Amino acid sequence: MRKMKVAVIGLGVMGQTHARIYTEHAGVELAAVYDIYQPHARQMAEKYRTKAAGSLEELFGMEELDAVSICTSDDQHYELAMLACKHGKHVLMEKPLATDLKEAKAIVEQAKASGIKMMVGHTLRWDPRYYHARQTVASGQLGSPLHLYARRNNSYQNGLRLKGRTSVLMFLGVHDIDAIEWVTGDRIVEVYTVEVRNRLNEFNVGDAAVTTFKLASGAVGSYETSWVMPDQYYELDAKLDIVGTEGAVNINIVNQNIQRHTEGRFTYPDTMYGMEMYGRLTGIMKEELTSFILAVTEDAPLPIMVEEAYRAVQIATCMEQSLQTGLPVIVPSSID
Ligand SMILES: NC(=O)c1ccc[n+]([C@@H]2O[C@H](COP(=O)([O-])OP(=O)(O)OC[C@H]3O[C@@H](n4cnc5c(N)ncnc54)[C@H](O)[C@@H]3O)[C@@H](O)[C@H]2O)c1
Repeated sequence: MRKMKVAVIGLGVMGQTHARIYTEHAGVELAAVYDIYQPHARQMAEKYRTKAAGSLEELFGMEELDAVSICTSDDQHYELAMLACKHGKHVLMEKPLATDLKEAKAIVEQAKASGIKMMVGHTLRWDPRYYHARQTVASGQLGSPLHLYARRNNSYQNGLRLKGRTSVLMFLGVHDIDAIEWVTGDRIVEVYTVEVRNRLNEFNVGDAAVTTFKLASGAVGSYETSWVMPDQYYELDAKLDIVGTEGAVNINIVNQNIQRHTEGRFTYPDTMYGMEMYGRLTGIMKEELTSFILAVTEDAPLPIMVEEAYRAVQIATCMEQSLQTGLPVIVPSSID
């Protein structure tokens, strides 16, 4: 059987994860990599034993190429997505779909018109804890959800390295926005967001944002997201608590059930997202890419539709509007 041929665009933290998972998948050939910084692309091509495309024209001109992973920074998704649609290549796009709502809408329209498969990597869709919470809600065992709390806090080093190219709501918030709607099967209808600015002032972005929100069912919730957690803090600090009329479910991703005491400190190392076992990468990112590969090679259904990724950007945009106006914002119910 012919292998699926894929290229990775943008070879930072996530691009290298995609490249590695593709090279370790028996049914896939990593046909090329591309990065705007060419010496880095050449170095990565050598590492992953593939070729470095010298330009986007060269990359998209590869006739046998089936698909691309777009792993560039948040503000660099639009043009690449449009190019992939134009050339009829399936797309695995890192989240968020785009940081600008008009661009996000144009991508949705172009993806539909071109007939390609486009999957946006909202990673929590493949996290067994969030999947379990969704199954629990769907089974009716919680009764009707009444109130929720979600949180995603990241290190100051992340806030620093992104240099204001994106916001904490677009970079981190979209994960939980999507998860809240997906896990509850409900719709966020209103958001009110406040933020604090201090440590990232030089990049003109907020340090942390806190949102209260209402769901269509009448349930209420709050959401906290930060990218200024102190150095030496836990690797991951994410939560989701849902309280219903007949039960509750709690996700607490801090303690990973493993503590490591080394070099005068202790850590909770992540074992879920992408851990090397027996020389191969395992975990959530591998599951995510496997869904995409199966969609392309076997026409399997995508676990997330591009419209749902648009919706996360739409709600994050409403949160940013609320920051601007100081008022609650009603979330539109349709793509507009
Ligand atoms: N799913 C997750 O859990 C998760 C986690 C982290 C990041 N992300 C997302 O993945 C994407 C990449 O994040 P990252 O942390 O790997 O970023 P990064 O800054 O480490 O890497 C980005 C890479 O893209 C390259 N690049 C930038 N603009 C380009 C362009 N126009 N054409 C080609 N190459 C270009 C840069 O040179 C760099 O090598 C972002 O959208 C981010 O939000 C997702």
